[in-house]
Amino acid sequence: MAFIEARGVRKTYFPKGVPPVHALDGLDLDVPQGTIKGLLGPNGAGKTTAVKALTTLIVPEEGTMTIDGIDVKAHPEQIRPIIGVSGQYAAVDENLTGFENLEMVGRLYHLGAKASRARATELIELFDLVEAQNRPVKGFSGGMRRRIDLAGALVARPRVLFLDEPTTGLDPRSRLALWDVIRSLASDGATVLLTTQYLEEADVLADHISVIDGGRVIAEGTTDELKNSIGGARIEISLGADAADNVVATRAVLAKLGTSEPILAPDGRTLTMPVDNAPAALATALGELGKRGIVPSDAGMRRPTLDDVFLQLTGHAATIEEEAAEPSKKSRRSRKGEK
Ligand SMILES: Nc1ncnc2c1ncn2[C@@H]1O[C@H](COP(=O)(O)OP(=O)(O)O)[C@@H](O)[C@H]1O
Ligand SMILES: [Mg+2]
Repeated sequence: MAFIEARGVRKTYFPKGVPPVHALDGLDLDVPQGTIKGLLGPNGAGKTTAVKALTTLIVPEEGTMTIDGIDVKAHPEQIRPIIGVSGQYAAVDENLTGFENLEMVGRLYHLGAKASRARATELIELFDLVEAQNRPVKGFSGGMRRRIDLAGALVARPRVLFLDEPTTGLDPRSRLALWDVIRSLASDGATVLLTTQYLEEADVLADHISVIDGGRVIAEGTTDELKNSIGGARIEISLGADAADNVVATRAVLAKLGTSEPILAPDGRTLTMPVDNAPAALATALGELGKRGIVPSDAGMRRPTLDDVFLQLTGHAATIEEEAAEPSKKSRRSRKGEK
């Protein structure tokens, strides 16, 4: 039995005036002890619901979940002391200082006054919050909030950590800093379930990835397995105003460069093709297009993104939220809207 295990978990919400939402629709998960599992999925995939179910914040109507052999539904009181949770819904008191927040968590876990202060001091240093520690959290930046929230999850030194989108909304520098902390927690032996909308983040941090969509796992494996299954690098050709005339010919050129089919983006003028050797394939593609008198408006190589994973696995694009999304992605219809 895996350290964290979920089988057939279902959670349905019944919002007023709209059809029921199957937030979890038969979710299965296995997280071996001492590893990081990346739960990768777009906005609305069910990531937060999964974390809430596993951490006893909500009770799913169907399925079984165990952590270290303990049945989560039957014994939530035994689960809570052994886990740490960090996410947008976690409790941070805005009016308390950073230090006081951590100290308070220690008291809640019955660490005692002295030990609570010592642990708070330790975590303030680990998370680089020494200068800000005596300011109320309401004045903290987004990155500082994330760090104090994550620090709060670590106060009681849990062996199991649930991190719900720990870096969403962070600037790149804060993201890198947080990645370092998460890696060092795992190398100290913690078992981590981390949710993310970023393929790159799952790639950097996770030993195993489960891709979820519509409340269930649609693909899983090590990062390498997953990448191989969706192909490695891709080349991308964007056509200009003459796109309508040249899409078919361009598609035919690209189709010869790899084993899968070229994918046409919703804009109708950008074609993407997974290939083994991107520089060579790009050179060949441009040469062949040139022979046919086709001049792309843009051409390049890039690594796969969550959108690629989704397009390939589900035929629809991921809808990614928050600052990292380009405006074009924000306006894209969500999966629910397409149904
Ligand atoms: N309290 C709730 N009431 C109604 N619907 C909800 C509630 N919480 C989540 N949902 C819906 O359940 C689905 C999964 O949500 P969530 O688990 O938050 O996804 P994610 O964290 O991957 O963005 C979404 O369609 C969301 O709108
Ligand atoms: Mg969420």
